Amino acid sequence: MCGIVGYVGDDDALPVILDGLKRLEYRGYDSAGVCLRTDPLTVHKKAGEVDELVEAAPESSEATCGVGHTRWSTHGEPTDENAHPHADEARRYAVVHNGIIDNHAELRDELEDRGHVFESDTDTEVVPHLLSEAEGELVERLGAVVERLEGSYALACVSADSDEVVVARQDSPLVVGHGDDANYVGSDVTAFVEHTRRVSYLHDGDIARVTADSIEVWNDGESVDRAVETVDWDVEAAEKGGYEHYMLKEIHEQPRALRKTVSERTDEVEGEALLDVSDEVLAEHDRVEFVACGTSYHAALYARRLFEEYADISATAEYASEYDGPHAPEETLVVAVTQSGETADTLSATRRAAREGATTVAVTNTVGSTAARETDETVYIRAGPEIGVAATKTFASQVVTLALVAVAAGRARDALPASEASSVLADLRDVPGAVQRVLDNEDRVAETAEEYGWDDAFFYVGRRLGYPVALEGALKLKEISYDHAEGFPAGELKHGPLALVTPDTPVLAVMTDGTRPRETLNNVKEVESRGAPVVAVTSSDADEGARLADTVFRVPSLGDMEPLLANVYLQMFAYHVARLKDRPIDKPRNLAKSVTVE
Ligand code: AGP
Repeated sequence: MCGIVGYVGDDDALPVILDGLKRLEYRGYDSAGVCLRTDPLTVHKKAGEVDELVEAAPESSEATCGVGHTRWSTHGEPTDENAHPHADEARRYAVVHNGIIDNHAELRDELEDRGHVFESDTDTEVVPHLLSEAEGELVERLGAVVERLEGSYALACVSADSDEVVVARQDSPLVVGHGDDANYVGSDVTAFVEHTRRVSYLHDGDIARVTADSIEVWNDGESVDRAVETVDWDVEAAEKGGYEHYMLKEIHEQPRALRKTVSERTDEVEGEALLDVSDEVLAEHDRVEFVACGTSYHAALYARRLFEEYADISATAEYASEYDGPHAPEETLVVAVTQSGETADTLSATRRAAREGATTVAVTNTVGSTAARETDETVYIRAGPEIGVAATKTFASQVVTLALVAVAAGRARDALPASEASSVLADLRDVPGAVQRVLDNEDRVAETAEEYGWDDAFFYVGRRLGYPVALEGALKLKEISYDHAEGFPAGELKHGPLALVTPDTPVLAVMTDGTRPRETLNNVKEVESRGAPVVAVTSSDADEGARLADTVFRVPSLGDMEPLLANVYLQMFAYHVARLKDRPIDKPRNLAKSVTVE
Protein backbone atom coordinates (compact mmCIF):
# COMPACT_ATOMS: atom_id res chain seq x y z
CA MET A 1 0.00 0.00 0.00
CA CYS A 2 1.00 3.64 -0.25
CA GLY A 3 0.16 6.81 1.64
CA ILE A 4 -1.68 9.74 0.10
CA VAL A 5 -2.17 13.24 1.49
CA GLY A 6 -3.76 16.30 -0.06
CA TYR A 7 -4.32 19.86 1.15
CA VAL A 8 -6.27 22.90 -0.08
CA GLY A 9 -6.49 25.98 2.14
CA ASP A 10 -4.98 29.36 2.94
CA ASP A 11 -1.59 28.22 4.22
CA ASP A 12 1.57 27.02 2.53
CA ALA A 13 0.68 23.52 1.33
CA LEU A 14 4.25 22.17 1.40
CA PRO A 15 4.84 21.77 5.18
CA VAL A 16 1.30 20.42 5.68
CA ILE A 17 1.89 17.76 3.03
CA LEU A 18 5.40 16.85 4.24
CA ASP A 19 4.10 16.46 7.83
CA GLY A 20 1.29 14.26 6.54
CA LEU A 21 3.79 12.13 4.62
CA LYS A 22 5.92 11.64 7.75
CA ARG A 23 2.87 10.29 9.54
CA LEU A 24 1.93 8.07 6.62
CA GLU A 25 5.38 6.58 6.20
CA TYR A 26 4.31 3.33 7.86
CA ARG A 27 2.25 2.69 4.71
CA GLY A 28 5.36 2.57 2.52
CA TYR A 29 8.82 4.09 2.50
CA ASP A 30 10.38 3.24 -0.87
CA SER A 31 10.04 6.80 -2.15
CA ALA A 32 8.13 9.99 -1.49
CA GLY A 33 7.00 13.02 -3.45
CA VAL A 34 4.89 16.12 -3.50
CA CYS A 35 3.18 18.14 -6.23
CA LEU A 36 2.35 21.79 -5.56
CA ARG A 37 -0.34 23.65 -7.48
CA THR A 38 1.63 26.24 -9.43
CA ASP A 39 1.42 26.98 -13.14
CA PRO A 40 3.00 24.78 -14.43
CA LEU A 41 2.88 22.27 -11.57
CA THR A 42 5.93 21.87 -9.31
CA VAL A 43 6.97 18.30 -8.50
CA HIS A 44 9.60 17.25 -5.92
CA LYS A 45 10.21 13.53 -5.53
CA LYS A 46 12.92 11.24 -4.23
CA ALA A 47 13.65 7.55 -3.76
CA GLY A 48 14.01 6.59 -0.09
CA GLU A 49 12.30 7.80 3.05
CA VAL A 50 10.38 11.04 3.49
CA ASP A 51 13.44 12.62 5.16
CA GLU A 52 15.26 12.42 1.83
CA LEU A 53 12.42 14.31 0.19
CA VAL A 54 12.46 16.89 2.99
CA GLU A 55 16.16 17.49 2.30
CA ALA A 56 15.64 17.78 -1.43
CA ALA A 57 12.56 20.05 -1.30
CA PRO A 58 12.57 23.76 -0.39
CA GLU A 59 11.52 24.73 3.14
CA SER A 60 8.46 26.64 2.02
CA SER A 61 6.42 27.41 -1.06
CA GLU A 62 3.86 29.88 -2.36
CA ALA A 63 1.37 27.10 -3.14
CA THR A 64 -1.79 26.64 -1.06
CA CYS A 65 -2.85 23.39 -2.71
CA GLY A 66 -1.06 20.13 -3.43
CA VAL A 67 -0.79 16.37 -3.00
CA GLY A 68 1.88 14.05 -1.62
CA HIS A 69 2.66 10.36 -1.67
CA THR A 70 4.78 7.82 0.12
CA ARG A 71 5.27 4.65 -1.87
CA TRP A 72 5.40 0.92 -1.34
CA SER A 73 6.54 -0.30 -4.75
CA THR A 74 4.46 -2.64 -6.85
CA HIS A 75 5.18 -1.64 -10.46
CA GLY A 76 8.68 -0.33 -11.06
CA GLU A 77 11.78 -0.14 -8.88
CA PRO A 78 11.96 2.35 -6.00
CA THR A 79 13.74 5.11 -7.98
CA ASP A 80 13.31 8.89 -8.24
CA GLU A 81 11.58 8.44 -11.62
CA ASN A 82 9.09 5.91 -10.30
CA ALA A 83 8.26 7.99 -7.22
CA HIS A 84 4.83 9.65 -7.25
CA PRO A 85 3.43 12.20 -8.14
CA HIS A 86 3.41 11.51 -11.86
CA ALA A 87 2.63 14.32 -14.30
CA ASP A 88 2.00 14.77 -18.01
CA GLU A 89 4.74 16.24 -20.22
CA ALA A 90 3.42 19.82 -19.92
CA ARG A 91 3.10 19.60 -16.11
CA ARG A 92 -0.60 20.51 -16.27
CA TYR A 93 -1.92 17.39 -14.46
CA ALA A 94 -0.36 15.35 -11.68
CA VAL A 95 -1.51 12.29 -9.83
CA VAL A 96 -0.73 10.21 -6.74
CA HIS A 97 -2.10 6.68 -6.60
CA ASN A 98 -2.54 3.75 -4.26
CA GLY A 99 -3.53 0.43 -5.87
CA ILE A 100 -2.82 -1.24 -9.20
CA ILE A 101 -4.13 -0.32 -12.63
CA ASP A 102 -4.45 -3.74 -14.26
CA ASN A 103 -4.83 -2.49 -17.84
CA HIS A 104 -1.96 0.03 -17.67
CA ALA A 105 0.16 -1.73 -20.33
CA GLU A 106 -2.57 -1.50 -22.95
CA LEU A 107 -3.35 2.13 -22.06
CA ARG A 108 0.34 3.02 -22.21
CA ASP A 109 0.76 1.45 -25.68
CA GLU A 110 -2.22 3.44 -26.87
CA LEU A 111 -0.89 6.71 -25.39
CA GLU A 112 2.62 6.14 -26.76
CA ASP A 113 1.11 5.55 -30.20
CA ARG A 114 -0.43 9.01 -29.88
CA GLY A 115 2.97 10.52 -29.04
CA HIS A 116 2.97 10.62 -25.24
CA VAL A 117 6.38 10.22 -23.65
CA PHE A 118 6.60 8.34 -20.34
CA GLU A 119 9.17 8.98 -17.63
CA SER A 120 8.55 6.04 -15.31
CA ASP A 121 7.86 2.30 -15.27
CA THR A 122 4.77 2.70 -13.12
CA ASP A 123 1.20 1.74 -13.86
CA THR A 124 0.12 5.13 -12.47
CA GLU A 125 1.69 7.34 -15.11
CA VAL A 126 -1.03 6.57 -17.65
CA VAL A 127 -3.45 8.61 -15.53
CA PRO A 128 -1.95 12.12 -15.94
CA HIS A 129 -1.50 11.48 -19.65
CA LEU A 130 -5.12 10.42 -19.97
CA LEU A 131 -6.17 13.48 -17.94
CA SER A 132 -4.31 15.72 -20.37
CA GLU A 133 -6.30 14.27 -23.28
CA ALA A 134 -9.71 14.43 -21.57
CA GLU A 135 -11.97 17.49 -21.69
CA GLY A 136 -13.57 19.87 -19.20
CA GLU A 137 -12.72 20.72 -15.62
CA LEU A 138 -10.49 18.43 -13.59
CA VAL A 139 -13.43 16.64 -12.02
CA GLU A 140 -14.95 15.89 -15.43
CA ARG A 141 -11.60 14.76 -16.79
CA LEU A 142 -11.06 12.39 -13.89
CA GLY A 143 -14.60 11.05 -14.30
CA ALA A 144 -13.82 10.23 -17.94
CA VAL A 145 -10.42 8.71 -17.10
CA VAL A 146 -11.63 6.33 -14.38
CA GLU A 147 -14.09 4.90 -16.92
CA ARG A 148 -11.04 3.60 -18.74
CA LEU A 149 -9.25 2.14 -15.71
CA GLU A 150 -9.41 -1.48 -14.59
CA GLY A 151 -8.06 -2.42 -11.18
CA SER A 152 -7.92 -0.72 -7.83
CA TYR A 153 -7.17 2.88 -7.08
CA ALA A 154 -7.25 5.72 -4.68
CA LEU A 155 -6.28 8.65 -6.90
CA ALA A 156 -5.64 12.24 -5.89
CA CYS A 157 -5.10 14.69 -8.75
CA VAL A 158 -4.22 18.34 -9.14
CA SER A 159 -4.13 20.54 -12.20
CA ALA A 160 -2.17 23.72 -12.94
CA ASP A 161 -5.48 25.55 -13.53
CA SER A 162 -7.19 25.69 -10.14
CA ASP A 163 -6.76 25.29 -6.37
CA GLU A 164 -8.55 21.98 -5.90
CA VAL A 165 -7.73 18.34 -5.29
CA VAL A 166 -9.93 15.87 -7.14
CA VAL A 167 -9.99 12.28 -5.93
CA ALA A 168 -11.46 8.95 -7.01
CA ARG A 169 -11.76 5.70 -5.11
CA GLN A 170 -12.14 2.08 -6.21
CA ASP A 171 -11.13 -0.77 -3.84
CA SER A 172 -8.54 1.35 -2.07
CA PRO A 173 -9.31 3.58 0.94
CA LEU A 174 -9.67 7.35 0.78
CA VAL A 175 -10.90 9.77 3.37
CA VAL A 176 -11.53 13.51 3.25
CA GLY A 177 -11.04 15.82 6.23
CA HIS A 178 -13.25 18.85 6.96
CA GLY A 179 -11.10 21.66 8.40
CA ASP A 180 -11.58 25.36 9.11
CA ASP A 181 -10.65 27.36 6.01
CA ALA A 182 -8.96 24.23 4.63
CA ASN A 183 -9.85 20.72 3.60
CA TYR A 184 -7.77 17.57 3.40
CA VAL A 185 -7.43 14.25 1.62
CA GLY A 186 -5.77 11.13 3.01
CA SER A 187 -5.37 7.44 2.41
CA ASP A 188 -6.22 7.30 6.11
CA VAL A 189 -7.00 9.74 8.87
CA THR A 190 -3.40 9.76 10.14
CA ALA A 191 -2.52 11.95 7.13
CA PHE A 192 -4.26 14.99 8.60
CA VAL A 193 -5.54 14.16 12.10
CA GLU A 194 -3.40 16.92 13.62
CA HIS A 195 -5.51 19.43 11.67
CA THR A 196 -9.00 17.98 11.88
CA ARG A 197 -10.81 14.97 13.34
CA ARG A 198 -13.97 15.55 11.25
CA VAL A 199 -13.84 13.12 8.36
CA SER A 200 -15.91 11.51 5.62
CA TYR A 201 -14.98 8.08 4.30
CA LEU A 202 -15.39 7.79 0.54
CA HIS A 203 -17.09 4.77 -1.04
CA ASP A 204 -16.11 2.75 -4.09
CA GLY A 205 -17.03 4.64 -7.23
CA ASP A 206 -16.91 8.04 -5.49
CA ILE A 207 -15.30 11.04 -7.14
CA ALA A 208 -14.82 14.11 -4.95
CA ARG A 209 -13.77 17.69 -5.55
CA VAL A 210 -12.04 19.21 -2.55
CA THR A 211 -11.51 22.98 -2.40
CA ALA A 212 -10.60 25.22 0.57
CA ASP A 213 -14.26 25.75 1.45
CA SER A 214 -16.17 22.80 0.00
CA ILE A 215 -16.16 19.06 -0.46
CA GLU A 216 -18.49 17.73 -3.15
CA VAL A 217 -18.93 14.00 -3.82
CA TRP A 218 -20.49 12.18 -6.78
CA ASN A 219 -21.11 8.51 -7.42
CA ASP A 220 -22.22 7.23 -10.79
CA GLY A 221 -22.79 10.82 -11.91
CA GLU A 222 -25.16 11.62 -9.00
CA SER A 223 -24.28 14.02 -6.22
CA VAL A 224 -24.11 12.11 -2.90
CA ASP A 225 -23.67 12.99 0.79
CA ARG A 226 -21.06 11.15 2.80
CA ALA A 227 -21.59 11.35 6.54
CA VAL A 228 -19.21 13.50 8.56
CA GLU A 229 -17.80 11.43 11.43
CA THR A 230 -15.53 12.44 14.29
CA VAL A 231 -12.54 10.17 14.89
CA ASP A 232 -12.17 9.34 18.56
CA TRP A 233 -8.38 9.48 18.72
CA ASP A 234 -6.03 12.35 18.26
CA VAL A 235 -2.53 12.99 17.04
CA GLU A 236 -1.03 12.11 20.44
CA ALA A 237 -2.27 8.56 20.03
CA ALA A 238 -0.34 8.23 16.80
CA GLU A 239 2.93 9.61 18.14
CA LYS A 240 5.76 7.82 19.87
CA GLY A 241 5.17 9.26 23.35
CA GLY A 242 8.81 9.01 24.45
CA TYR A 243 9.41 5.43 23.26
CA GLU A 244 12.29 4.71 20.92
CA HIS A 245 9.99 3.01 18.42
CA TYR A 246 6.27 2.89 17.71
CA MET A 247 6.46 -0.87 18.08
CA LEU A 248 7.73 -0.60 21.65
CA LYS A 249 5.13 2.02 22.45
CA GLU A 250 2.42 -0.21 21.05
CA ILE A 251 3.68 -3.25 22.97
CA HIS A 252 3.44 -1.18 26.17
CA GLU A 253 0.07 0.23 25.19
CA GLN A 254 -1.51 -3.20 25.30
CA PRO A 255 -3.04 -2.93 28.77
CA ARG A 256 -4.72 0.35 27.83
CA ALA A 257 -5.81 -0.90 24.42
CA LEU A 258 -7.22 -4.10 25.94
CA ARG A 259 -9.12 -2.13 28.56
CA LYS A 260 -10.87 -0.36 25.70
CA THR A 261 -11.44 -3.66 23.92
CA VAL A 262 -13.31 -5.18 26.89
CA SER A 263 -14.82 -1.99 28.30
CA GLU A 264 -18.61 -2.35 28.79
CA ARG A 265 -18.61 -5.61 26.87
CA THR A 266 -18.70 -8.06 29.79
CA ASP A 267 -21.70 -8.77 32.02
CA GLU A 268 -20.23 -11.28 34.43
CA VAL A 269 -23.40 -11.46 36.54
CA GLU A 270 -25.51 -12.71 33.65
CA GLY A 271 -22.61 -14.38 31.88
CA GLU A 272 -23.13 -12.36 28.69
CA ALA A 273 -20.74 -10.75 26.23
CA LEU A 274 -22.26 -7.44 25.12
CA LEU A 275 -21.45 -6.90 21.45
CA ASP A 276 -23.15 -5.23 18.50
CA VAL A 277 -23.32 -8.47 16.52
CA SER A 278 -26.84 -9.92 16.46
CA ASP A 279 -27.69 -13.12 18.34
CA GLU A 280 -29.44 -14.54 15.25
CA VAL A 281 -26.26 -14.32 13.22
CA LEU A 282 -24.36 -16.17 15.95
CA ALA A 283 -27.08 -18.72 16.67
CA GLU A 284 -28.19 -19.61 13.17
CA HIS A 285 -24.90 -20.76 11.68
CA ASP A 286 -23.44 -24.21 12.15
CA ARG A 287 -20.03 -23.39 10.84
CA VAL A 288 -17.56 -20.51 11.12
CA GLU A 289 -14.80 -19.91 8.59
CA PHE A 290 -12.20 -17.32 9.50
CA VAL A 291 -10.24 -15.66 6.70
CA ALA A 292 -7.22 -13.49 7.41
CA CYS A 293 -3.55 -12.84 6.63
CA GLY A 294 -0.34 -12.66 8.66
CA THR A 295 -0.81 -11.75 12.30
CA SER A 296 -4.58 -11.55 11.88
CA TYR A 297 -4.50 -15.14 10.62
CA HIS A 298 -2.75 -16.16 13.83
CA ALA A 299 -5.48 -14.41 15.84
CA ALA A 300 -8.02 -16.34 13.74
CA LEU A 301 -6.25 -19.65 14.47
CA TYR A 302 -6.47 -18.83 18.16
CA ALA A 303 -10.14 -17.89 17.85
CA ARG A 304 -11.02 -21.03 15.92
CA ARG A 305 -10.26 -23.12 19.00
CA LEU A 306 -12.21 -20.80 21.28
CA PHE A 307 -15.26 -21.01 19.02
CA GLU A 308 -15.13 -24.80 19.10
CA GLU A 309 -14.68 -24.80 22.86
CA TYR A 310 -17.19 -22.11 23.90
CA ALA A 311 -19.77 -22.32 21.13
CA ASP A 312 -19.51 -25.97 20.11
CA ILE A 313 -19.36 -24.89 16.51
CA SER A 314 -17.18 -26.26 13.75
CA ALA A 315 -14.63 -23.56 12.95
CA THR A 316 -11.74 -23.28 10.49
CA ALA A 317 -9.16 -20.57 9.83
CA GLU A 318 -7.66 -20.13 6.38
CA TYR A 319 -5.16 -17.79 4.83
CA ALA A 320 -7.42 -15.41 2.91
CA SER A 321 -5.25 -15.78 -0.19
CA GLU A 322 -5.86 -19.55 -0.16
CA TYR A 323 -9.59 -19.40 0.48
CA ASP A 324 -11.80 -21.04 -2.14
CA GLY A 325 -15.13 -19.92 -0.68
CA PRO A 326 -17.49 -21.29 1.97
CA HIS A 327 -18.16 -25.03 2.04
CA ALA A 328 -21.86 -24.66 2.75
CA PRO A 329 -22.66 -20.96 2.18
CA GLU A 330 -26.12 -20.89 3.78
CA GLU A 331 -24.89 -22.45 7.00
CA THR A 332 -21.58 -20.65 7.20
CA LEU A 333 -20.56 -17.48 8.96
CA VAL A 334 -17.44 -16.08 7.34
CA VAL A 335 -15.41 -13.90 9.70
CA ALA A 336 -12.79 -11.60 8.18
CA VAL A 337 -10.13 -10.71 10.74
CA THR A 338 -8.22 -7.64 9.57
CA GLN A 339 -6.63 -4.85 11.55
CA SER A 340 -6.69 -2.38 8.68
CA GLY A 341 -9.89 -3.59 7.07
CA GLU A 342 -8.18 -2.94 3.75
CA THR A 343 -6.06 -6.05 3.09
CA ALA A 344 -6.81 -7.01 -0.50
CA ASP A 345 -6.51 -10.78 0.05
CA THR A 346 -8.94 -10.66 2.96
CA LEU A 347 -11.40 -8.41 1.13
CA SER A 348 -11.40 -10.63 -1.90
CA ALA A 349 -12.00 -13.78 0.21
CA THR A 350 -14.85 -12.03 2.03
CA ARG A 351 -16.41 -10.81 -1.21
CA ARG A 352 -16.26 -14.34 -2.61
CA ALA A 353 -18.02 -15.65 0.50
CA ALA A 354 -20.72 -12.96 0.24
CA ARG A 355 -21.26 -13.66 -3.47
CA GLU A 356 -21.81 -17.30 -2.68
CA GLY A 357 -24.45 -16.43 -0.11
CA ALA A 358 -22.59 -16.64 3.22
CA THR A 359 -23.19 -14.14 6.01
CA THR A 360 -20.03 -12.11 6.63
CA VAL A 361 -18.64 -10.41 9.72
CA ALA A 362 -15.60 -8.12 9.92
CA VAL A 363 -13.46 -8.01 13.05
CA THR A 364 -11.38 -4.91 12.48
CA ASN A 365 -9.65 -1.97 14.10
CA THR A 366 -10.57 0.56 11.46
CA VAL A 367 -13.83 2.46 11.51
CA GLY A 368 -15.06 3.19 8.00
CA SER A 369 -12.75 0.61 6.43
CA THR A 370 -13.80 -1.36 3.38
CA ALA A 371 -14.20 -4.54 5.43
CA ALA A 372 -16.45 -2.71 7.90
CA ARG A 373 -18.60 -1.32 5.12
CA GLU A 374 -18.89 -4.40 2.96
CA THR A 375 -19.71 -7.06 5.57
CA ASP A 376 -23.09 -7.82 7.12
CA GLU A 377 -21.88 -7.10 10.65
CA THR A 378 -18.77 -5.48 12.15
CA VAL A 379 -17.11 -5.91 15.52
CA TYR A 380 -14.42 -3.35 16.33
CA ILE A 381 -11.36 -4.39 18.30
CA ARG A 382 -10.87 -0.81 19.63
CA ALA A 383 -7.06 -1.02 19.85
CA GLY A 384 -6.46 2.59 18.67
CA PRO A 385 -4.09 3.48 15.84
CA GLU A 386 -1.18 1.12 15.26
CA ILE A 387 1.73 2.64 13.34
CA GLY A 388 4.51 0.04 13.69
CA VAL A 389 4.46 -2.25 10.67
CA ALA A 390 4.76 -5.25 13.00
CA ALA A 391 1.33 -5.75 14.57
CA THR A 392 1.42 -6.09 18.36
CA LYS A 393 -1.39 -4.51 20.34
CA THR A 394 -3.89 -5.24 17.59
CA PHE A 395 -3.13 -8.98 17.82
CA ALA A 396 -3.96 -8.90 21.55
CA SER A 397 -7.14 -6.90 20.93
CA GLN A 398 -8.16 -9.22 18.09
CA VAL A 399 -7.81 -12.31 20.27
CA VAL A 400 -9.75 -10.77 23.15
CA THR A 401 -12.48 -9.44 20.84
CA LEU A 402 -12.80 -12.83 19.15
CA ALA A 403 -12.97 -14.50 22.57
CA LEU A 404 -15.88 -12.17 23.40
CA VAL A 405 -17.59 -13.12 20.15
CA ALA A 406 -16.99 -16.82 20.92
CA VAL A 407 -18.66 -16.36 24.32
CA ALA A 408 -21.57 -14.52 22.70
CA ALA A 409 -21.90 -17.36 20.16
CA GLY A 410 -21.74 -19.96 22.94
CA ARG A 411 -24.53 -18.22 24.83
CA ALA A 412 -26.65 -17.63 21.71
CA ARG A 413 -26.32 -21.32 20.79
CA ASP A 414 -26.99 -22.55 24.35
CA ALA A 415 -23.61 -24.23 24.28
CA LEU A 416 -22.00 -22.32 27.14
CA PRO A 417 -23.63 -22.24 30.59
CA ALA A 418 -23.85 -18.77 32.15
CA SER A 419 -21.49 -19.73 34.99
CA GLU A 420 -18.76 -20.83 32.57
CA ALA A 421 -19.31 -17.72 30.44
CA SER A 422 -18.93 -15.58 33.57
CA SER A 423 -15.63 -17.16 34.38
CA VAL A 424 -14.29 -16.68 30.82
CA LEU A 425 -15.49 -13.06 30.88
CA ALA A 426 -13.78 -12.49 34.24
CA ASP A 427 -10.54 -13.77 32.69
CA LEU A 428 -10.97 -11.46 29.70
CA ARG A 429 -11.52 -8.51 31.99
CA ASP A 430 -8.29 -9.44 33.79
CA VAL A 431 -6.17 -9.64 30.62
CA PRO A 432 -5.04 -5.96 30.69
CA GLY A 433 -3.66 -6.23 34.23
CA ALA A 434 -1.99 -9.56 33.49
CA VAL A 435 -0.36 -8.14 30.34
CA GLN A 436 1.04 -5.32 32.49
CA ARG A 437 2.60 -7.87 34.84
CA VAL A 438 4.29 -9.53 31.87
CA LEU A 439 5.52 -6.17 30.56
CA ASP A 440 7.10 -5.49 33.93
CA ASN A 441 9.63 -8.24 33.10
CA GLU A 442 11.03 -6.45 30.06
CA ASP A 443 14.55 -6.16 31.50
CA ARG A 444 14.85 -9.93 31.79
CA VAL A 445 13.57 -10.36 28.25
CA ALA A 446 16.15 -7.85 27.00
CA GLU A 447 18.90 -9.83 28.78
CA THR A 448 17.66 -13.05 27.17
CA ALA A 449 17.68 -11.35 23.78
CA GLU A 450 21.31 -10.37 24.38
CA GLU A 451 22.17 -13.93 25.34
CA TYR A 452 20.57 -15.68 22.36
CA GLY A 453 19.94 -12.90 19.85
CA TRP A 454 23.10 -13.54 17.82
CA ASP A 455 22.29 -17.16 17.07
CA ASP A 456 21.63 -18.45 13.54
CA ALA A 457 17.98 -19.40 13.55
CA PHE A 458 15.10 -19.59 16.00
CA PHE A 459 12.33 -22.14 16.40
CA TYR A 460 9.08 -21.49 18.17
CA VAL A 461 6.86 -24.34 19.31
CA GLY A 462 3.51 -24.72 21.00
CA ARG A 463 0.41 -26.86 20.95
CA ARG A 464 -3.27 -25.99 20.75
CA LEU A 465 -3.57 -22.27 21.66
CA GLY A 466 0.21 -22.19 21.90
CA TYR A 467 0.61 -23.03 18.21
CA PRO A 468 -0.74 -19.73 16.77
CA VAL A 469 1.38 -17.93 19.37
CA ALA A 470 4.46 -19.87 18.20
CA LEU A 471 3.67 -18.79 14.62
CA GLU A 472 3.15 -15.20 15.72
CA GLY A 473 6.36 -15.14 17.78
CA ALA A 474 8.34 -16.38 14.77
CA LEU A 475 6.65 -13.92 12.39
CA LYS A 476 7.48 -11.00 14.69
CA LEU A 477 11.14 -12.00 14.89
CA LYS A 478 11.59 -12.52 11.16
CA GLU A 479 9.75 -9.30 10.26
CA ILE A 480 11.85 -6.98 12.37
CA SER A 481 15.18 -8.74 13.05
CA TYR A 482 15.51 -10.42 9.61
CA ASP A 483 16.56 -13.64 11.38
CA HIS A 484 15.38 -16.98 10.20
CA ALA A 485 12.54 -17.99 12.52
CA GLU A 486 9.87 -20.67 12.18
CA GLY A 487 6.91 -21.68 14.28
CA PHE A 488 5.82 -25.31 14.50
CA PRO A 489 3.25 -27.36 16.34
CA ALA A 490 5.49 -28.76 19.09
CA GLY A 491 4.57 -32.34 18.20
CA GLU A 492 5.66 -31.85 14.59
CA LEU A 493 9.29 -31.08 15.44
CA LYS A 494 10.24 -34.74 15.51
CA HIS A 495 8.63 -35.29 12.10
CA GLY A 496 11.27 -33.27 10.26
CA PRO A 497 12.26 -29.85 11.62
CA LEU A 498 14.29 -31.52 14.41
CA ALA A 499 16.98 -32.08 11.77
CA LEU A 500 17.62 -28.31 11.86
CA VAL A 501 18.03 -28.12 15.62
CA THR A 502 21.62 -27.53 16.83
CA PRO A 503 23.26 -25.79 19.81
CA ASP A 504 23.00 -22.57 17.75
CA THR A 505 19.24 -22.65 17.25
CA PRO A 506 17.37 -21.47 20.34
CA VAL A 507 13.91 -23.01 20.76
CA LEU A 508 11.19 -20.85 22.31
CA ALA A 509 8.46 -23.04 23.76
CA VAL A 510 4.97 -21.86 24.71
CA MET A 511 4.04 -24.15 27.61
CA THR A 512 1.30 -22.31 29.49
CA ASP A 513 -2.15 -23.59 30.37
CA GLY A 514 -4.25 -24.11 27.28
CA THR A 515 -1.29 -25.53 25.32
CA ARG A 516 -0.90 -29.12 26.60
CA PRO A 517 2.39 -28.32 28.32
CA ARG A 518 3.04 -31.89 29.48
CA GLU A 519 3.19 -33.16 25.91
CA THR A 520 5.36 -30.23 24.84
CA LEU A 521 7.77 -31.11 27.61
CA ASN A 522 8.74 -34.25 25.67
CA ASN A 523 9.59 -32.09 22.67
CA VAL A 524 11.63 -29.78 24.87
CA LYS A 525 13.60 -32.81 26.04
CA GLU A 526 14.19 -33.77 22.40
CA VAL A 527 15.70 -30.40 21.52
CA GLU A 528 17.67 -30.13 24.75
CA SER A 529 19.37 -33.44 24.05
CA ARG A 530 20.52 -31.95 20.70
CA GLY A 531 22.11 -29.07 22.60
CA ALA A 532 19.61 -26.32 21.69
CA PRO A 533 19.02 -23.65 24.33
CA VAL A 534 15.37 -23.55 25.43
CA VAL A 535 13.42 -20.47 26.46
CA ALA A 536 10.10 -21.58 27.95
CA VAL A 537 7.04 -19.52 28.74
CA THR A 538 5.08 -21.37 31.39
CA SER A 539 2.15 -20.91 33.74
CA SER A 540 2.95 -19.43 37.13
CA ASP A 541 2.81 -22.78 38.93
CA ALA A 542 4.47 -25.06 36.31
CA ASP A 543 7.47 -26.94 37.71
CA GLU A 544 8.70 -29.47 35.22
CA GLY A 545 9.03 -27.26 32.14
CA ALA A 546 10.71 -24.69 34.31
CA ARG A 547 13.28 -27.18 35.56
CA LEU A 548 14.33 -28.22 32.06
CA ALA A 549 14.48 -24.87 30.25
CA ASP A 550 17.54 -22.60 30.21
CA THR A 551 15.38 -19.51 30.67
CA VAL A 552 11.85 -19.44 32.01
CA PHE A 553 9.27 -16.68 31.77
CA ARG A 554 6.07 -17.10 33.71
CA VAL A 555 2.61 -15.73 33.00
CA PRO A 556 -0.11 -15.00 35.55
CA SER A 557 -2.83 -17.63 35.83
CA LEU A 558 -5.53 -16.79 33.25
CA GLY A 559 -6.99 -19.91 31.59
CA ASP A 560 -7.27 -19.72 27.81
CA MET A 561 -5.71 -16.27 27.75
CA GLU A 562 -2.35 -17.50 29.09
CA PRO A 563 -0.93 -18.14 25.59
CA LEU A 564 -1.86 -14.54 24.72
CA LEU A 565 0.22 -13.42 27.70
CA ALA A 566 3.08 -15.65 26.51
CA ASN A 567 2.92 -13.78 23.21
CA VAL A 568 3.79 -10.52 24.98
CA TYR A 569 7.12 -12.08 26.04
CA LEU A 570 7.73 -13.14 22.44
CA GLN A 571 6.94 -9.62 21.18
CA MET A 572 9.49 -8.14 23.59
CA PHE A 573 12.05 -10.81 22.65
CA ALA A 574 11.67 -9.98 18.94
CA TYR A 575 11.89 -6.26 19.65
CA HIS A 576 15.08 -6.56 21.69
CA VAL A 577 16.80 -8.90 19.23
CA ALA A 578 16.03 -6.45 16.41
CA ARG A 579 17.21 -3.50 18.51
CA LEU A 580 20.46 -5.31 19.26
CA LYS A 581 21.01 -5.60 15.52
CA ASP A 582 20.05 -1.99 14.90
CA ARG A 583 17.24 -2.86 12.52
CA PRO A 584 14.73 -0.22 11.33
CA ILE A 585 12.11 -1.70 13.66
CA ASP A 586 9.11 0.41 12.67
CA LYS A 587 9.86 0.14 8.97
CA PRO A 588 11.17 -3.31 8.16
CA ARG A 589 12.50 -3.72 4.64
CA ASN A 590 10.09 -4.77 1.89
CA LEU A 591 7.01 -4.59 4.13
CA ALA A 592 4.08 -2.22 4.51
CA LYS A 593 1.49 -1.87 7.24
CA SER A 594 -1.42 -2.88 5.10
CA VAL A 595 -1.21 -4.73 1.83
CA THR A 596 -3.84 -3.49 -0.57
CA VAL A 597 -2.75 -5.64 -3.52
CA GLU A 598 -3.35 -9.39 -4.02
C1 AGP B 1 1.95 -8.26 11.03
O1 AGP B 1 3.02 -7.91 11.83
C2 AGP B 1 2.07 -7.90 9.62
N1 AGP B 1 2.39 -6.56 9.41
C3 AGP B 1 1.08 -8.52 8.67
O2 AGP B 1 1.24 -9.90 8.75
C4 AGP B 1 -0.44 -8.16 8.84
O3 AGP B 1 -0.92 -8.76 10.00
C5 AGP B 1 -1.20 -8.68 7.60
O4 AGP B 1 -0.73 -8.02 6.47
C6 AGP B 1 -2.70 -8.51 7.74
O5 AGP B 1 -3.07 -7.17 7.88
P1 AGP B 1 -4.53 -6.76 8.33
O6 AGP B 1 -4.73 -7.28 9.72
O7 AGP B 1 -4.55 -5.27 8.26
O8 AGP B 1 -5.49 -7.40 7.38
